[in-house]
Amino acid sequence: MKIDVLLGLQWGDEGKGKVVDVLTPQYDIIARFQGGPNAGHTIEFDNKKFVLHTIPSGIFNSNTINVIGNGVIIDPFILRKEINKLDESGIDVRENLLVSRKAHIILPTHRLLDAVYEKAKGKDKIGSTLKGIGPCYTDKVSRNGIRVGDIENANFDIKYQNARKRHIQIIEQYNTNYKDIEIDGQLFLEYEKNWHEALKVLISLKKVNSEYYLNEQLEAGKKILAEGAQGTLLDIDFGSYPFVTSSNTTTAGVCIGLGIAPKNIGKVFGIFKAYCTRVGSGPFPTELFDKDGDMLRKIGNEFGSTTGRPRRCGWLDIPALKYAIMLNGVTELMMMKSDVMNQFKEIKAASNYLYKGEETSEIPFDDSEGLLTPVYTSLPGWGSDITIASSYDDLPCDLKNYIKYIEDSVGVPVKLVSFGPDRKETIIR
Ligand code: GDP
Ligand code: IMO
Ligand code: MG
Repeated sequence: MKIDVLLGLQWGDEGKGKVVDVLTPQYDIIARFQGGPNAGHTIEFDNKKFVLHTIPSGIFNSNTINVIGNGVIIDPFILRKEINKLDESGIDVRENLLVSRKAHIILPTHRLLDAVYEKAKGKDKIGSTLKGIGPCYTDKVSRNGIRVGDIENANFDIKYQNARKRHIQIIEQYNTNYKDIEIDGQLFLEYEKNWHEALKVLISLKKVNSEYYLNEQLEAGKKILAEGAQGTLLDIDFGSYPFVTSSNTTTAGVCIGLGIAPKNIGKVFGIFKAYCTRVGSGPFPTELFDKDGDMLRKIGNEFGSTTGRPRRCGWLDIPALKYAIMLNGVTELMMMKSDVMNQFKEIKAASNYLYKGEETSEIPFDDSEGLLTPVYTSLPGWGSDITIASSYDDLPCDLKNYIKYIEDSVGVPVKLVSFGPDRKETIIR
């Protein structure tokens, strides 16, 4: 068996959580492979709404095992909150959730560092979710990190104190008193105490050597879906650096973040919104600053699932979509939030760019000056409600034309169309 992959092709928040939940009944295992609680994956069904940050989106199906892979970074405090919320709704995660011993842990001082670094960047800030992502992955790569498997070792406290000391020394270089910084509304020392309490919940979860576990399950013929976080254009290598996250959000990240050989990658589901959004700083060629942008934000409820920040909105960007398809080896596309454009009379999509006087479809090395100008193709909007559609044929002609335009432009079929946040508001072709 091969492992299928579902990941975002834009700047995150494409609707990955929703689609993973829709596809879960077809899989035995759902595995997150990168990112941490910077992710916010929303799932809606039976008039209930959940936002997951660390736990894979397959958790609502009691027949599916959910794995937090080695490439993920875990904040025990946020994870406990997530588990408690699920508990309150009668969803017991303990049976079906496995955590990789090799996943790294986000320490309270990682979050302090994130805050201090962002503040120091001033107007050049990344717009980080401030969950300690960059500092934690930095420690991983510089071989100073602490992993889930370390928690129960006798020397955990020493490791923790050493890291804490090292981080505080850095923070003091920024003339900041770490005790004055608040995390999630708590002063640092109080937060740190709660974080240590929360560690007990992480200790109580089932741990695995997930690379062995997943490969054995593949051998045994089990079906596995890897769930991406963030999006391709936030990838540490291929995104608009430095306005990116600190992990590989692309298909290659599955190999690293789960221990899967490249030859065992199967289908790659690339998911995108019918338009674009971005939260945080960085280039966004098709960004709209007019009433169309406001309409997308309002109708699409484009406010961050993790931070509540308003998302920047714009038209679909075909060259960027093609870039993401190329990097990921996408085999099937899934188009989300089509319903958000129901009222638009005209829809635009960037079919190409103008850069320094020349037409190009290539994203330049650095577009921090925002010189990349979209060349738009205009298409008629469908101007009607699609919330009652039950099959692809039910969709308005102009929506099918829009989908055809996208397929013809990128050369990959759109196999799923989503027209609302609920599980049921989905058409599979
Ligand atoms: P993720 O991070 O990729 O899982 O996406 P988020 O959960 O952060 O953001 C997607 C938002 O759009 C969530 O609020 C979803 O409930 C919602 N959503 C997903 N699919 C659709 C859709 O087809 N139509 C509408 N209107 N909302 C959707
Ligand atoms: P999901 O999985 C959208 C963005 C942040 C910021 C940049 C770096 O829900 O799609 P970080 O916290 O990693 O230091 O932030 O990346 N970002 C996301 N944007 N969706 C996400 O996750 C994101 N995770 C990080 O806004 O611009
Ligand atoms: Mg999200």
